[in-house]
Amino acid sequence: MAWAAKGGNLDSSGANVHDMASVQRGAATFVNYCQHCHSAEFMRYERLRQDLGLTEEQVLENLAFGDQELADYMLSPITTEQATEWFDAPAPDLSLTARSRGGNWIYTFLRGFYLDEEGWNNTVQEHSSMPHVLWELQGIQRPIYETETAGDGQERRVLVGLELAQDGLMSTTEYDRKVRDLVAYMEYMAEPAILQRKRVGIWVMLFLSLLTFMSYLVYKEFWKDIK
Ligand code: HEC
Repeated sequence: MAWAAKGGNLDSSGANVHDMASVQRGAATFVNYCQHCHSAEFMRYERLRQDLGLTEEQVLENLAFGDQELADYMLSPITTEQATEWFDAPAPDLSLTARSRGGNWIYTFLRGFYLDEEGWNNTVQEHSSMPHVLWELQGIQRPIYETETAGDGQERRVLVGLELAQDGLMSTTEYDRKVRDLVAYMEYMAEPAILQRKRVGIWVMLFLSLLTFMSYLVYKEFWKDIK
């Protein structure tokens, strides 16, 4: 079941930062659903354009906010003060969250919102101040409780799982994929060099194999007359 115990096991995101299509879809989701409140203050649109192999128009028309330009950082239009006033907590910068929290944390968090008697809650971050901005896509999850008798004989209600009480626009599989793409994008954002390193890695391998081949030719040439 798509659920993790409080502070306990996180679900594995399965995100792949080298799957370019996935990272691109994640970037679009980030801009459309997250950047209203969260900034990515270490990320410029131009960097995004280069790394994700997009054109200027694609970035400016689909990803950049309002009149933001390629050289701009991916900033949210709201200030920390506004966020604190509206949501009781600042919406933290998300540039490095995939590193500080980890991809699996984000994956489980975005799939862990549920509605209880008091309102929205979350299995990973109890009473999170973040509204469940993707609820229309995911639908509404309700908690499943079990009664447990503690050592002192007191009965306690514990959360053991979540069930989908109202369908969203997406199936669970589609929603999980959307979140997985988002995590892939956030992992890229937390370490943009990861894509370049891989690219450089391939050239290094090619160079080394070429070098080996050349050494082999030199070796043959060298021993030709001696043998
Ligand atoms: C309406 C404003 C708003 C939107 C939109 C929003 N968030 Fe948040 N988010 C918050 C607030 C406020 C918090 C702080 C929650 C807290 O501390 O209780 C938060 C916290 C988080 C955290 C936890 C960060 C940490 O290290 O504690 C993550 C991760 C996160 N948001 C991801 C996202 C993603 C991904 C999206 C887009 C799908 C998104 N948020 C959209 C307001 C928002």
